[in-house]
This record gives sequence, structure tokens and C-alpha cells, in this order.
Amino acid sequence: MRLFIAIAFAKEVKQQLASYAASLGALSERANITRPDNFHLTLAFLGGALTEAEACTALTKVNCTPFKLYSDKPGVFRRGGGDIHWLGLKSSDELTALNGRLNAALAETGFKPEKRPFSPHITLAREVRGLSGELPPPPRFIITVTGLTLMDSQRINGLLTYSPLYEKLF
Ligand code: 2AM
Repeated sequence: MRLFIAIAFAKEVKQQLASYAASLGALSERANITRPDNFHLTLAFLGGALTEAEACTALTKVNCTPFKLYSDKPGVFRRGGGDIHWLGLKSSDELTALNGRLNAALAETGFKPEKRPFSPHITLAREVRGLSGELPPPPRFIITVTGLTLMDSQRINGLLTYSPLYEKLF
């Protein structure tokens, strides 16, 4: 399994992201645009390092109260095979604290958290090449965080599909 733990988005937020990502695609020679259903914010990528049961056990230990996240500016991770374009989020002490508690819970199950600093981003498109022209203003939205979702990433009929397996509600 390719497991990861994410914050899920409301349909309206996904629609706004999809429309912005479509503009990015239209201005690029090539781009692998995130499918509308797939927009999310990853907190931890587990891959196959934990079983589903272990990941659920860790998630049940994470306590939080609901909070809000605010969309911010777009950004790019430069990659040889094509860039990753993303939308950022305004810095949030609540998100940083939640990520710390999640990593502590995962560490208790034996998972070694990533050493890279946490850089929250919503991936809009991968393998982007030949972007020219001016993008429209980025979408502005608020995400109300009411839980964390354990997701499995699979290719189903050639499509990258993220399936929710368990949700820890706050
Ligand atoms: P990304 O969107 O920035 O690519 C499922 O693959 C989710 O886990 C994606 O949100 C992806 O982030 C994230 N992820 C983090 N580390 C990963 C890794 N080493 N391999 C694949 N996905 C990873």
C-alpha cells in the first residue's frame, strides 16, 4: 500500500483548485494536472512503512480542535523532468502543532518521520513544462480542518486514485 495522512477538502475548495489548475494546464506545453477529486494537503507520507492498522492506531492518538487554514500564493518545485506547481497556505501555528502531534504519534508506532522540514503545499500539477503567459489570480479560500484522513494511493484503470481508509475527527 502507498499510505499517506492528509487533510481532506470540501467540494467547493476542490472546484476552485481544479479551475486554477486547469488554467495552469492551458498555459503549459505539457502538464500532469491533479484530478479534482485528488486535491488534499499531505501531512505525512507513509508509503508501505506502516500497516493500515498501525497508521489507524497512530491517528486515534492525535488530538486537536477544529481550526482554519487560509490559501496563499502559488509556488514551484523545480524538477528536471518537469516542475511541480503548488498552492501554498498561510503560515499556521495550529497546523504546525498538529503536524508535530501526528509525527509524535507515528514515531510511537515505529515510523521515522521525514527529516525534511514540513512545507505544506497543495499540488496543482506535476511534470509541468513550457509554461508561458500569465496565470489568473490564485483562488482564495478557507479550509476548515475537522480531522485527518488516512489515504491509500493507487493507480486504478491508469488513473491515480486516492481512497480514504479511515478518518480521525477532531
Ligand atoms: P505531493 O503532492 O507534493 O507530490 C500521495 O502521493 C501524497 O503524498 C502526495 O500529496 C505527495 O505529495 C505526498 N508525498 C510525500 N512524500 C512522498 C513520496 N516520497 N512519494 C510519493 N508521495 C509523497
